Amino acid sequence: MTRSLSIAAAVGLIAGVGLAVALYNGALTVPDWVSQRTTGQALVGGPFELVDHSGKTVRDSDFRGQYMLIYFGFAHCPDVCPSALQVMSAALDKIGSEAERITPIFISVDPERDTPESLAAYVSAFHPKLVGLTGSPEAVSKAATAYRVFYRKVQDPGSAGDYTVDHSSIIYFMDPDGRFITHFTHGTPVDVMAEKLQGIV
Ligand code: NI
Repeated sequence: MTRSLSIAAAVGLIAGVGLAVALYNGALTVPDWVSQRTTGQALVGGPFELVDHSGKTVRDSDFRGQYMLIYFGFAHCPDVCPSALQVMSAALDKIGSEAERITPIFISVDPERDTPESLAAYVSAFHPKLVGLTGSPEAVSKAATAYRVFYRKVQDPGSAGDYTVDHSSIIYFMDPDGRFITHFTHGTPVDVMAEKLQGIV
Protein backbone atom coordinates (compact mmCIF):
# COMPACT_ATOMS: atom_id res chain seq x y z
CA MET A 1 0.00 0.00 0.00
CA THR A 2 1.41 3.38 -0.94
CA ARG A 3 1.50 6.16 1.59
CA SER A 4 -1.26 8.22 -0.08
CA LEU A 5 -3.51 5.16 -0.16
CA SER A 6 -2.90 4.51 3.55
CA ILE A 7 -3.88 8.08 4.29
CA ALA A 8 -7.01 7.74 2.16
CA ALA A 9 -7.93 4.52 3.95
CA ALA A 10 -7.37 6.13 7.35
CA VAL A 11 -9.48 9.16 6.41
CA GLY A 12 -12.20 6.83 5.14
CA LEU A 13 -12.16 4.83 8.35
CA ILE A 14 -12.40 7.96 10.50
CA ALA A 15 -15.27 9.32 8.37
CA GLY A 16 -17.07 5.97 8.61
CA VAL A 17 -16.73 5.79 12.37
CA GLY A 18 -17.85 9.42 12.65
CA LEU A 19 -20.99 8.73 10.60
CA ALA A 20 -21.81 5.64 12.63
CA VAL A 21 -21.41 7.58 15.89
CA ALA A 22 -23.56 10.45 14.55
CA LEU A 23 -26.31 8.02 13.51
CA TYR A 24 -26.09 6.24 16.85
CA ASN A 25 -26.39 9.51 18.76
CA GLY A 26 -29.34 10.58 16.65
CA ALA A 27 -27.44 13.55 15.26
CA LEU A 28 -28.40 12.37 11.78
CA THR A 29 -31.90 11.14 11.20
CA VAL A 30 -32.97 8.71 8.54
CA PRO A 31 -34.67 10.66 5.75
CA ASP A 32 -38.47 10.35 5.46
CA TRP A 33 -38.37 8.57 2.15
CA VAL A 34 -36.32 5.73 3.66
CA SER A 35 -38.73 5.17 6.54
CA GLN A 36 -41.75 5.48 4.21
CA ARG A 37 -40.23 2.89 1.91
CA THR A 38 -39.65 0.50 4.76
CA THR A 39 -43.21 0.88 6.05
CA GLY A 40 -44.58 0.35 2.54
CA GLN A 41 -46.28 3.76 2.48
CA ALA A 42 -46.35 5.03 -1.08
CA LEU A 43 -45.28 8.58 -1.79
CA VAL A 44 -48.46 9.63 -3.54
CA GLY A 45 -50.77 12.41 -2.51
CA GLY A 46 -50.48 15.59 -0.54
CA PRO A 47 -51.99 19.00 -0.05
CA PHE A 48 -53.68 20.85 -2.89
CA GLU A 49 -55.73 24.00 -3.17
CA LEU A 50 -57.94 24.16 -6.25
CA VAL A 51 -61.31 25.50 -7.41
CA ASP A 52 -64.28 23.15 -7.74
CA HIS A 53 -66.87 23.15 -10.53
CA SER A 54 -69.10 25.47 -8.53
CA GLY A 55 -66.30 28.05 -8.28
CA LYS A 56 -65.51 27.35 -4.63
CA THR A 57 -61.92 27.07 -3.35
CA VAL A 58 -61.30 23.51 -2.20
CA ARG A 59 -58.40 21.98 -0.30
CA ASP A 60 -57.52 18.31 0.05
CA SER A 61 -58.25 18.68 3.78
CA ASP A 62 -61.90 19.43 2.92
CA PHE A 63 -62.23 15.77 1.92
CA ARG A 64 -61.04 14.32 5.25
CA GLY A 65 -63.46 11.66 6.42
CA GLN A 66 -64.15 10.67 2.80
CA TYR A 67 -62.28 8.23 0.64
CA MET A 68 -61.10 10.02 -2.52
CA LEU A 69 -61.12 8.31 -5.90
CA ILE A 70 -58.97 10.70 -7.94
CA TYR A 71 -58.29 10.96 -11.64
CA PHE A 72 -56.26 13.65 -13.46
CA GLY A 73 -57.24 14.48 -17.03
CA PHE A 74 -58.85 17.11 -19.23
CA ALA A 75 -62.31 17.67 -20.62
CA HIS A 76 -61.22 17.86 -24.28
CA CYS A 77 -59.66 14.39 -24.03
CA PRO A 78 -61.32 12.32 -26.77
CA ASP A 79 -61.41 8.86 -25.22
CA VAL A 80 -58.95 8.05 -22.42
CA CYS A 81 -60.43 10.38 -19.80
CA PRO A 82 -64.07 9.61 -20.63
CA SER A 83 -63.46 5.88 -20.37
CA ALA A 84 -61.66 6.24 -17.01
CA LEU A 85 -64.46 8.42 -15.64
CA GLN A 86 -67.09 5.99 -16.93
CA VAL A 87 -65.39 3.08 -15.18
CA MET A 88 -65.12 5.05 -11.90
CA SER A 89 -68.79 6.05 -12.10
CA ALA A 90 -70.00 2.55 -12.96
CA ALA A 91 -67.92 1.02 -10.15
CA LEU A 92 -69.43 3.43 -7.62
CA ASP A 93 -72.95 2.71 -8.86
CA LYS A 94 -72.27 -1.00 -8.60
CA ILE A 95 -71.22 -0.70 -4.94
CA GLY A 96 -74.42 1.21 -4.22
CA SER A 97 -74.93 2.69 -0.76
CA GLU A 98 -71.50 1.55 0.43
CA ALA A 99 -70.01 4.08 -1.99
CA GLU A 100 -71.41 6.90 0.13
CA ARG A 101 -68.03 7.39 1.78
CA ILE A 102 -66.23 7.64 -1.56
CA THR A 103 -65.92 10.98 -3.37
CA PRO A 104 -64.90 10.70 -7.03
CA ILE A 105 -62.69 13.62 -8.09
CA PHE A 106 -61.57 14.76 -11.54
CA ILE A 107 -58.59 17.14 -11.50
CA SER A 108 -57.98 19.05 -14.73
CA VAL A 109 -54.49 19.19 -16.20
CA ASP A 110 -55.81 21.73 -18.72
CA PRO A 111 -56.79 24.68 -16.51
CA GLU A 112 -56.60 27.04 -19.51
CA ARG A 113 -59.70 25.51 -21.09
CA ASP A 114 -61.25 23.74 -18.09
CA THR A 115 -62.91 26.59 -16.23
CA PRO A 116 -65.19 25.78 -13.28
CA GLU A 117 -68.21 26.51 -15.51
CA SER A 118 -67.13 24.15 -18.29
CA LEU A 119 -66.20 21.46 -15.74
CA ALA A 120 -69.67 21.68 -14.16
CA ALA A 121 -71.29 20.50 -17.39
CA TYR A 122 -68.57 17.94 -18.00
CA VAL A 123 -68.60 16.15 -14.61
CA SER A 124 -72.39 16.02 -14.39
CA ALA A 125 -72.41 13.96 -17.58
CA PHE A 126 -70.61 11.16 -15.73
CA HIS A 127 -71.77 10.98 -12.12
CA PRO A 128 -73.80 13.23 -9.81
CA LYS A 129 -71.12 12.92 -7.11
CA LEU A 130 -68.15 13.62 -9.39
CA VAL A 131 -66.26 16.73 -8.25
CA GLY A 132 -64.40 18.66 -10.96
CA LEU A 133 -61.33 20.58 -9.83
CA THR A 134 -59.25 23.13 -11.70
CA GLY A 135 -57.19 26.18 -10.75
CA SER A 136 -54.20 28.24 -11.72
CA PRO A 137 -51.53 26.45 -13.77
CA GLU A 138 -49.29 26.60 -10.67
CA ALA A 139 -51.93 25.09 -8.37
CA VAL A 140 -52.67 22.31 -10.87
CA SER A 141 -48.97 21.61 -11.32
CA LYS A 142 -48.51 21.35 -7.55
CA ALA A 143 -51.39 18.88 -7.21
CA ALA A 144 -50.12 16.79 -10.14
CA THR A 145 -46.61 16.70 -8.67
CA ALA A 146 -47.97 15.50 -5.33
CA TYR A 147 -49.76 12.65 -7.12
CA ARG A 148 -46.81 11.87 -9.38
CA VAL A 149 -48.93 12.70 -12.41
CA PHE A 150 -47.20 13.57 -15.66
CA TYR A 151 -48.83 15.88 -18.20
CA ARG A 152 -47.62 17.90 -21.15
CA LYS A 153 -49.30 20.24 -23.58
CA VAL A 154 -48.79 19.12 -27.19
CA GLN A 155 -49.63 21.27 -30.23
CA ASP A 156 -52.09 19.62 -32.56
CA PRO A 157 -50.35 19.56 -35.98
CA GLY A 158 -53.73 19.34 -37.71
CA SER A 159 -55.10 22.69 -36.60
CA ALA A 160 -53.12 25.82 -35.77
CA GLY A 161 -53.45 27.00 -32.20
CA ASP A 162 -55.22 23.85 -31.07
CA TYR A 163 -53.57 21.51 -28.60
CA THR A 164 -54.00 18.29 -26.72
CA VAL A 165 -52.54 17.21 -23.38
CA ASP A 166 -50.51 14.04 -22.91
CA HIS A 167 -51.06 12.75 -19.40
CA SER A 168 -50.73 9.71 -17.17
CA SER A 169 -53.94 7.75 -16.76
CA ILE A 170 -54.00 6.32 -13.23
CA ILE A 171 -56.89 6.33 -10.78
CA TYR A 172 -55.81 6.86 -7.18
CA PHE A 173 -57.72 5.68 -4.13
CA MET A 174 -56.96 7.62 -0.96
CA ASP A 175 -58.14 6.87 2.58
CA PRO A 176 -60.22 9.26 4.79
CA ASP A 177 -56.97 10.76 6.10
CA GLY A 178 -55.80 11.57 2.58
CA ARG A 179 -53.26 8.75 2.48
CA PHE A 180 -52.68 6.55 -0.52
CA ILE A 181 -54.32 3.11 -0.38
CA THR A 182 -54.10 1.79 -3.92
CA HIS A 183 -54.30 2.75 -7.57
CA PHE A 184 -55.98 1.41 -10.69
CA THR A 185 -54.26 1.36 -14.03
CA HIS A 186 -56.06 2.39 -17.18
CA GLY A 187 -58.30 -0.38 -18.48
CA THR A 188 -59.21 -1.81 -15.07
CA PRO A 189 -62.65 -3.41 -15.54
CA VAL A 190 -65.63 -2.02 -13.61
CA ASP A 191 -66.15 -5.29 -11.68
CA VAL A 192 -62.53 -5.45 -10.55
CA MET A 193 -62.58 -1.84 -9.34
CA ALA A 194 -65.94 -2.24 -7.61
CA GLU A 195 -64.86 -5.38 -5.80
CA LYS A 196 -61.60 -3.85 -4.63
CA LEU A 197 -63.24 -0.63 -3.42
CA GLN A 198 -65.96 -2.58 -1.65
CA GLY A 199 -63.35 -4.67 0.15
CA ILE A 200 -61.72 -1.52 1.53
CA VAL A 201 -64.56 0.81 2.55
NI1 NI B 1 -57.29 12.11 -21.15
